[in-house]
Amino acid sequence: MARETELMTFAEELAREAGELAHRRRAEGVDIAATKSTLADIVTAADREVEQLIRERIAAERPDDGFVGEEFDALRGRSGVTWVVDPIDGTVNYAGGSPFYAVSIAAVEGEPRPREWMALAGVVHAPALGETFRAARGEGAFLDGRRLAVAEPHAAGALVATGFGYDPATHAGDLATLARVFVHARDIRRTGSASLDLASVAAGRVDAYYERGLSPWDHAAGALLVTEAGGVVSWADVASARPMIIAAAPTVHATLTDVLV
Ligand code: IPD
Ligand code: CA
Repeated sequence: MARETELMTFAEELAREAGELAHRRRAEGVDIAATKSTLADIVTAADREVEQLIRERIAAERPDDGFVGEEFDALRGRSGVTWVVDPIDGTVNYAGGSPFYAVSIAAVEGEPRPREWMALAGVVHAPALGETFRAARGEGAFLDGRRLAVAEPHAAGALVATGFGYDPATHAGDLATLARVFVHARDIRRTGSASLDLASVAAGRVDAYYERGLSPWDHAAGALLVTEAGGVVSWADVASARPMIIAAAPTVHATLTDVLV
């Protein structure tokens, strides 16, 4: 089995076990454990418990690999492979009882920094939706058994997903950008989970997704899903504090980039 496929298979095992734990904890009831960057940026006890579980499993199975996760300090590895993990992407949805949350796990090679790493495998597993998206580099992207392909262009314009950070100070600027995009779009979506937005581009459920200020774990797995489904992922404003990811089918990507950049 190719190394990428092996990593994807392991990532899927981890994501399913972690998803089961998140789902069970959700059913038991969720308390906000703390707030992070702003009052709107919450963390639940489940976020931490799920990341801990994933870390332990990786440490046991692949002790030389590095780890970058949302909830705890990064760990530098020796093997050249780093796991980039969001234990619960869509925490606000999760805490509120919405099913739009996912465990996002990627294995990357090289410096564990966005735009410098090369993603080898990625899994986005949404336990409450019963959906598992997976990709291995060079092997395509799949939703359960079905091979994924980004959408064909639509005569009425693109269906564009986006998101906003937790800092209210950035909302006015983001809304001004959205107003520019909306003129060219068929409609707009905001699900509250970046990994599922990227998975939706890969599956052709939306035509495009862009957002400023994502963290590495928000996009590591989802971006590989998009490129393996025939889409394009690029970055704008990389020198700023909030670089923008733009992910879409190739023709839509070109049009959207003209509007955004
Ligand atoms: C957030 C979600 C949201 C996006 C934010 C992310 P979290 O991740 O992906 O859709 O708009 O930028 O921080 O906090 O739920 O893991
Ligand atoms: Ca996240």
